[in-house]
Amino acid sequence: ENYSEEDLYRPNFHFTPKKAWMNDPNGMFYYNGYYHLYFQYHPDSNVWGPMHWGHAISTDMISWTEQPIAIYPDELGTIFSGSAVVDIGNTSGFGKVSNAAPIVAMYTNHLDKGEGSVNQTQSIAYSHDEGKTFTKYENNPVIDANLKDFRDPKVTWDADRNKWVMVLAADDKIMFYDSKDLKEWKLLSDFKREEGSKDGVWECPDLFKLPVLGTGESKWVLIVSIGKGGPNGGSATQYFIGDFDGTSFVMDKDFETARNKENNFWVDFGRDNYAGVTWSNAKRKDGSKLMLGWMSNWDYAIKVPTETWRSAMTIAREVNLQKDENGYKLLFQPVKELNNYRSIKYKKENISIRGDTKIIDASTMDLASAEIQFNISDVIDKGFTFNLTNKQGDTLAFGYNKADKNFFVDRTKSGKTGFSENFAKGVSVAKRTSLSPDMSGTIILDKTSIELFFDNGETVMTEIFFPNKPYTKLSIIPEAQEFILGSIEMNKLNI
Ligand code: FRU
Repeated sequence: ENYSEEDLYRPNFHFTPKKAWMNDPNGMFYYNGYYHLYFQYHPDSNVWGPMHWGHAISTDMISWTEQPIAIYPDELGTIFSGSAVVDIGNTSGFGKVSNAAPIVAMYTNHLDKGEGSVNQTQSIAYSHDEGKTFTKYENNPVIDANLKDFRDPKVTWDADRNKWVMVLAADDKIMFYDSKDLKEWKLLSDFKREEGSKDGVWECPDLFKLPVLGTGESKWVLIVSIGKGGPNGGSATQYFIGDFDGTSFVMDKDFETARNKENNFWVDFGRDNYAGVTWSNAKRKDGSKLMLGWMSNWDYAIKVPTETWRSAMTIAREVNLQKDENGYKLLFQPVKELNNYRSIKYKKENISIRGDTKIIDASTMDLASAEIQFNISDVIDKGFTFNLTNKQGDTLAFGYNKADKNFFVDRTKSGKTGFSENFAKGVSVAKRTSLSPDMSGTIILDKTSIELFFDNGETVMTEIFFPNKPYTKLSIIPEAQEFILGSIEMNKLNI
């Protein structure tokens, strides 16, 4: 069989633009039944270039429909990452039109003045048609500090203080601003981390408040992406837990101690989840936030083996905050909306795993459109490797190594890897942090991506791969002695 690029690599259900280059998700908001997703977009080529905001909409964050480009470059520069809010109270004065609130986008204008001279400023644009088209504000830019690395404004409504708060990244720090009308911004403070991951320039921050599960308490979360220096190399996104008093963000003391001990607070330990931020105006009953990231890495993004389009977004995720003996930890899970797409289900229980044991093959279930959940009890002395394979000998391996207490993803033999030295240079690992004797995992499989949610979403790993032919078999091998796989449930996803 001959496979086209579309057949082999166009994801079944992760968002990709029909054509051309995409990076960061931008301006996500929910309004009137639609989740909006904008994205860094270079429509004229399959590599990064002058940025626009592409656009897609969805009623459930799973099935996306691409829309016309929403924001184009102008004389102030190209359109870098940013956010959008629903200005329900018309604080901006841009006005309601037939009762629809104005949508206000805030983004970075990137102006390349030649000879290495760059100025990044912040501008706003408003929409009177629920995010389809935007009009740029006449007094742009709204913030100009004459800085080169000064970008990715993320605006949020601070309900405690009735004002807009905005965070942006300025080289190695996050700057906090506030505003009453989204036009005039006042600098409040900055957050700079001396130790830890400051390898790459700081990018794409986010700030939001989350209830601590099972308590009456709430904490503030600061998200910061870094271009280099992730836990398994290249780009990655870290987080900080603390308090925001309307002026500055202060890390929680215990969290800071835990963070200093083990630099273990990453949104994702896989190499392909970058620049993720949350949806604004999306109220969930349980108080969780909704987040999605760019499923690639600056280490190799412009070289991945697709020509028509480049890169996809992760599945949308619910973000919650838990506190246990280990302290604060964010939990990430695929959004519940994904369950609506479950079709055929297979369930096996108490399988004894001796040698290489087949779980399922593609004649029974499509392994490129699947959600798999497994449970293993008393995992203390157990280690295992799942292998996703095809007849060509390509293998994507992932699992848990009991000696090191590490989860891992090994794509070194997953198919096409030679396009970039960085792509398959090692095995990605993540230390298990959960103290539970039982382990659970959710595996989301598409044609070119795996998303692993271990221990209720306490440890997440997202990686992309490019097999020469589709994978046809999923099997599992014990690390040492035989063990019992408590249950494994496989759902084919019809998206
Ligand atoms: C992050 C980033 C942002 C910037 C955008 C440009 O991936 O570098 O900081 O706004 O990409 O496309």
